[in-house]
Amino acid sequence: MLSQTNKNIGIVGLGSYVPEKILSNTDLERMVDTSDQWIKTRTGIEQRRITDVHTFTSDIASKAALDALEDADMKPEEIELIIVATVTPDMFTPSTACMVQHKIGAVNATAFDVNAACSGFVYALTIANQFITTGYYKNALVIGAETLSKVIDWKDRNTCVLFGDGAGAAILMPTENNFGILATHMGADGSLGKHLTIPSLDIHQYEIENEPQYNPRTIRMDGSEVFKFAVKIMAESTIKVLEKIGRSIDDVNVIIPHQANLRIVDGAAKRLKFDKKKIFTNLQKYGNMSSASIPVALYEAAKEGFIQQGDLVVLVGFGGGLTWGSAVLRWFK
Ligand code: UT7
Repeated sequence: MLSQTNKNIGIVGLGSYVPEKILSNTDLERMVDTSDQWIKTRTGIEQRRITDVHTFTSDIASKAALDALEDADMKPEEIELIIVATVTPDMFTPSTACMVQHKIGAVNATAFDVNAACSGFVYALTIANQFITTGYYKNALVIGAETLSKVIDWKDRNTCVLFGDGAGAAILMPTENNFGILATHMGADGSLGKHLTIPSLDIHQYEIENEPQYNPRTIRMDGSEVFKFAVKIMAESTIKVLEKIGRSIDDVNVIIPHQANLRIVDGAAKRLKFDKKKIFTNLQKYGNMSSASIPVALYEAAKEGFIQQGDLVVLVGFGGGLTWGSAVLRWFK
């Protein structure tokens, strides 16, 4: 039976997993016409993690999930809902969330995937927040996980230097009043979707006939279009979510942005007139992990003490779709 909770929903456990194998900028210099200096100055990225051929998104998502369960001191059977945000599912069906459910033994959980690219974690967090607020489920395991290395064209220097693999997980449940998720904001503009794509099977045939210069089923991106969009939407989405709770950027203690490019983060900070030192970044180590970027960054920011109890924290992302999303939380864990 539904019994709407009047409590805020908070994050009670965080988990993270990145593959062991490191691919450095110097390694990439041997693969395409690029340089460590170009990658560092144009993006801030120094290295990224890459899965082996036998490891898929559900594997790394399950590792992050188990880490989050341990952090929350919960057993897999207690979880009622699993949402995996990913654009690199192991299969079209079953969903990655169902595979995670089986792998971790969360036998009582409903499970499904969400595709909103790099905004996916914020989308999944918002969905889980709604389910728990209405009393439909008592808790949720929300995961952002990607094995982007499997959809990269390793001959395309425009994209292959940018992305990496990883997974982050959060467990949500009702928390203290006025703490946890205070508001979320999401949006999409499908007319801009062409700027960032991973073509599917049907288009695969089209490509072979019409665009033989591309490897099929790999990421294509008009980087500068996405860049312009990203700087603008990160600032706008941050303001919009703060407006929902009657707050301004001056009230924010920490921003955890999607980790695509340091120049995008700097551009958004400038628009927001927000101190860059209060923005957490780890893209230097991992590159852009799409839906995993925000939860892995949140995990590290919390563990490193970058976020303190009571801080007002904004999560903000943008990505394929094109999509965007933000969440504002009063940190309590
Ligand atoms: O998660 C959401 C998805 N993606 C993003 O958020 C990415 C958004 N975009 C970006 O981060 C940037 O646009 C990039 C990092 C992708 C590119 O940086 P840019 O400053 O916008 O460079 P550009 O695309 O304007 O390219 C400048 C030059 C070009 O050469 P020409 O045409 O001027 O001779 C590129 O061919 O840099 C060249 N270039 C490279 N050179 C060395 C592009 N990639 C590389 C590379 N190494 N890896």
